[in-house]
Amino acid sequence: MNLLLENKLNDSLNNIFEKLDLDTKFAVVKVSDRPDLSDFQCNGALALAKIAHKNPREIAALIAEELANDSAVDAVSIDGPGFINIKLKDDFIAATMDKMVADKRLGCGVVTNPHRVVLDFGGPNVAKEMHVGHLRSGVIGESIQRIERFVGNIVTSDVHLGDWGTPMGMILSEVIRTDGTLSRIFSYDIAEITEIYKRANIRCKDDDDAKEAAHKVTAALQAGKKEYRAAWQHLRNESIKAIKANYKQLDVHFDLWWGESDAHETCGKIVEIARKNGISEKDNGAEIIRLEEGNKPKPPVILVKSDGGYTYHTTDLATIKMRVEQLKAQEIVYFTDSRQALHFEQVFEGTEKLGIAPNVKLQHIVFGTVNGADGKPFKTRDGGVMNLETLIKMSKDKVRKSLPKANEVEGYGEREIEKLVSQIAVAAIKFQDLKNTIASGYVFELDDFAKFEGKTGPYIQYAVARINSVLRKAANNTMQEGNVVLEAPEERVLALKLAQVHNVVMRAHSEKEPSIIADYTYTLAQIFSTFYNACPIMNVENPKLSASRLRLAKLTRDVLKLMLDLLGIEAPEIMLKAEN
Ligand code: ARG
Repeated sequence: MNLLLENKLNDSLNNIFEKLDLDTKFAVVKVSDRPDLSDFQCNGALALAKIAHKNPREIAALIAEELANDSAVDAVSIDGPGFINIKLKDDFIAATMDKMVADKRLGCGVVTNPHRVVLDFGGPNVAKEMHVGHLRSGVIGESIQRIERFVGNIVTSDVHLGDWGTPMGMILSEVIRTDGTLSRIFSYDIAEITEIYKRANIRCKDDDDAKEAAHKVTAALQAGKKEYRAAWQHLRNESIKAIKANYKQLDVHFDLWWGESDAHETCGKIVEIARKNGISEKDNGAEIIRLEEGNKPKPPVILVKSDGGYTYHTTDLATIKMRVEQLKAQEIVYFTDSRQALHFEQVFEGTEKLGIAPNVKLQHIVFGTVNGADGKPFKTRDGGVMNLETLIKMSKDKVRKSLPKANEVEGYGEREIEKLVSQIAVAAIKFQDLKNTIASGYVFELDDFAKFEGKTGPYIQYAVARINSVLRKAANNTMQEGNVVLEAPEERVLALKLAQVHNVVMRAHSEKEPSIIADYTYTLAQIFSTFYNACPIMNVENPKLSASRLRLAKLTRDVLKLMLDLLGIEAPEIMLKAEN
């Protein structure tokens, strides 16, 4: 059920436009730019007048006259060149609140044509520590995955593990170089594996022989050399364990843990298709697909390197084929930073040439970087890459300082406090990220991001907990909620905001932009706070008013919780604050 107030007005306007023989395309309202004058406005008369060469105010007057008879409408006025201002009746808004409460989706509708979406985010790599650069992909992807599911699409999230490229051969050949054999590799844990990779990376930078050896090992690994495969399997297992632990802390989840390596068999098929379609050619021992060069020259897709290995292009093309065939994907969305923009342009163009994903929408969403105070990518104090583990730990340490110590509050031992610490820290990290549009980068703020005031995750969590406490008190006093009645202006403002929730979710979905939800959530929490200061819930003379306000409070709590959930953020029942 979609309980948007606009729907009601759009329907009425449609009928009126038909009656007046006006183009119904313009029979739409939007939330008013001037809430002091009206709730909604319709600007259709201006466009209609332009087409018909008539006076917009005259057309607006005709529409307004009809609209004034609508039982849901309180007042209609015409403003400026022909804007139609509409104010809804309090009763109508109140009744909508009651309907939202009765609906388990809180008045949010679903998409009309659900389809199968594959979300490719996270993208961690074997043997590489996850760093702050991986944060956004996980946080944004998780939120989009929740939003897409909530609006009714069939979602498969896939981590697309980087487990098949040259780094694999670099590590194996580094181990062979130092140990003389691969047999010890099975005792190496993730810390050792990461160290070996770092060493290999440095060596391969200025040692061409080492680089060549690494390429050879990679090609042999890909070709199936047993000894290499077994050693690689260990690297992969250890890495997955570590990566899963990181994502668990951030409450980020994947349906599939496919890696580049899982696309290996299909890579061969991609090469076959390319040959069959006559779109690949040999180039210095490699096999490539040339792309249209357009205005700016675009490098070709490399399917097979001169050493026989497949590339990042090939595994991505093969993965697309698998997602289309096995998952029946109708849309595939990738989330990475802008450095991979060219890669995906090449892959998408290659896909088209190969004809492996007809009618599938492919989209690459690029996000900005997480920066330090200097505006450059966020680094550790000594200038190193900030790993995700450290970032989460720093955030938790900060949050822990603002909470009571274990056993200072009854029922809150070490475990309970630590749970709260991670819920708040993760909310702070995620909200700080998601309140920015995806495309823009942001400065990771360690001082204010976990404060209980301001546009932060903890502020919203606190707002929820505050309402929870009101609801508990009301329950203790055996107070019952009842039908909504709108008397005070603050009640009306709150109700109008609550009624926007369907639109907010749908916009976040169609624009793939969780910041729309973050903005709304913050404003709603503020509006609630104003309402709560002006409109006492308990100790009100009129019990009907009490019951109505209680219902509004509960609905606000439920909407805030739903919004946080769509952002991937938990809402603890109770929030604690250290005395200071
Ligand atoms: N592993 C890649 C990286 O760290 C990101 C993977 C993105 N997804 C993809 N299908 N290529 O850069």
